[in-house]
Amino acid sequence: MPKKFYVTTPIYYPSGKLHLGHAYTTTLADVLKRYKDMQGYETFFLTGSDEHGQKIETKAKEAGLEPMAYLEDKIENFKNLWTKLRIDYSKFIRTTDHYHEQTVKKIFSFLFEKGLIYKGAYEGLYCISCEEFLNTDQIDEQGNCKISNNKPELIKEDTYFLKTSQFQTFIETILESEFLIPDYRRTEMLKNFVDPGLKDLSVTRISFKWGIPINEDPKHVVYVWLDALTNYITALGYLQEDDELFIKFWADPETEILQLAGKEIIRFHAIYWPIILEALNLRQPSHLLGHGWILSNSTKMSKSLGNVIDPLEVIDEFGADGLRFYISYELPTEKDGNFTIDLFKESYNAHLANNVGNLISRTNNMITKYFQGYIEGNINDVDLTMINLANESINQYQTLMDQYKISAAMRVVLDLSAACNKYIEETTPWNLDKEGNTKELTTVLMTLQRCISIISYLLKPVLVENYEDMIEQCGLENVELSFESLKTFTNLEFKKLGSKKILFQRLK
Ligand code: ME8
Ligand code: MG
Repeated sequence: MPKKFYVTTPIYYPSGKLHLGHAYTTTLADVLKRYKDMQGYETFFLTGSDEHGQKIETKAKEAGLEPMAYLEDKIENFKNLWTKLRIDYSKFIRTTDHYHEQTVKKIFSFLFEKGLIYKGAYEGLYCISCEEFLNTDQIDEQGNCKISNNKPELIKEDTYFLKTSQFQTFIETILESEFLIPDYRRTEMLKNFVDPGLKDLSVTRISFKWGIPINEDPKHVVYVWLDALTNYITALGYLQEDDELFIKFWADPETEILQLAGKEIIRFHAIYWPIILEALNLRQPSHLLGHGWILSNSTKMSKSLGNVIDPLEVIDEFGADGLRFYISYELPTEKDGNFTIDLFKESYNAHLANNVGNLISRTNNMITKYFQGYIEGNINDVDLTMINLANESINQYQTLMDQYKISAAMRVVLDLSAACNKYIEETTPWNLDKEGNTKELTTVLMTLQRCISIISYLLKPVLVENYEDMIEQCGLENVELSFESLKTFTNLEFKKLGSKKILFQRLK
């Protein structure tokens, strides 16, 4: 039985266009999914849209449309972006999907019957943009929400509460475990939300209609977070007739389940979601990877702040791989990062054009020039220092990717590539040719050919548009490559190099 990997992104609000921040999380998930595929896992990758709630209701009204009509082209735009960014998701869930709505009602009823939900009244400040009740330290001196900058509304209404306060010890235990990464975010959660004592969570609203009405009291609709968070299991068929995916990917304690979320919603995923799962007697995800923000002029890039970059424009101009690379390498998840077109070009030129692209092209050119495209010789007649370095890089890369440290893994590949460029400078194949030292020239170029094959393979989860061309330029038949086959090179052969193609043209 292959190992299994289930990865999810947040489901995004279709209250506007997706921006680079959304592309960020989704690309990280996609890269990890593709990496796990390369490791032979059976994978499932879920993304989608969070369509209920006051924000969408208001936006639709402003546009003079019914919510469903308003949503239609928004969702098309989501999917179009994912196609262009080469996101290989397994399923796209919409919280307005019938099966989801039905299951949320069942979940509510189950919790209600279990005595974990009770009726009460809520009074507090609500940020519509974040769809969140705010506590005092989420509000700035001007009385605005620190995240969206919007003025929260005072809300006083009947609501049903989930008895999250009962789960205090449970959540402390979860947050002391390895569940939330990176670990400094655990301390943050404990200090800000858990240590002061968990408050029961409001799970229904009555002041708007656009949501899932509960069977028990239909003027109440489910408050977005109970609706939204449960998408991760309803999408798999939880409590539905066809629950094969649920059994396979969630119910099995052996499945590696990874959830990604930006830091502003870690609280929901690290506290309320585990409680909901525990209340439903379900297993927990293996990990929640909480990541930082892409900033724009040192504040969060966000729709509500209006400082966004449209990823489609970046893709249309520079291709999906450039953006996928920038996200993977330049924006490590443990901290906030920046994106500007200048930074993007600088990074593209330094790493893809000058380092990796140049290495592949030089190697390819020299094999063509000195050996007419095919090196006769024993495949194992290579420089062991370089090959050991390459194999060590494969190991390090795997270790880092297994810890979801994509940026650090990319660093390993870029370092290997730089070492190969240096190896060329040091061995000066052009002099070996001049001297007629065919033996040494064979060793050097065979070594390089193997190294560029490894580099290309390690970049496969990220550079999906260029991968085939890279492998072609290496001269590898697009055979079943694997980490293992590249370490030993058994069963791998190079063919005669043919056409040349410039990879990663320098950007001006
Ligand atoms: O919160 N930098 O949806 P949302 C990095 N529907 N990531 C960013 C980002 C930025 N500047 N801006 C957005 C919601 N993101 C809820 C989620 S899940 C059950 C419900 C990414 O449209 C990041 O993943 O506001 C963030 O958490 C998410 O988009 C928020 O998307
Ligand atoms: Mg948001």
